[in-house]
Amino acid sequence: MALYSEKVMDHFRNPRNVGVIEDADGVGEVGNPVCGDIMKIYLKIDNETISDVKFETFGCGSAIASSSMATELIKGKPLSEALKLTNKAVTEALDGLPAHKLHCSVLAEEAIKAAVKDYYDKNGIAYDPKDFPDCDHCESCGV
Ligand code: FES
Repeated sequence: MALYSEKVMDHFRNPRNVGVIEDADGVGEVGNPVCGDIMKIYLKIDNETISDVKFETFGCGSAIASSSMATELIKGKPLSEALKLTNKAVTEALDGLPAHKLHCSVLAEEAIKAAVKDYYDKNGIAYDPKDFPDCDHCESCGV
């Protein structure tokens, strides 16, 4: 069996939603201190719905495929739904990732959460801190 699914290869070769939104309403940047990869997500938000999303990822192929798939999964969705997106859902949508690459999908989940939090912070919108767990304490981050 190939190490990477066709979907992973497709999103790696033709990533969707690459780029920058200059007047983004929320920006989230996260990095994995172990592998050094960095992911940045830009959100445009209208009526609590993600009307546009772009990403820049400086990282491995799995991180690029995860960012691409994650942006596709949240585009046009309400913020509340985007906040529920897990790295597991991203991985499943990609038809799986090798075990040692699962942490790459964690970056996508975290970057989206960071961007939504940035939007809430900038607009003085109250939120439940439980929706934004402290990354340092997240077990799934280990490489
Ligand atoms: Fe670092 Fe994939 S190896 S995110």
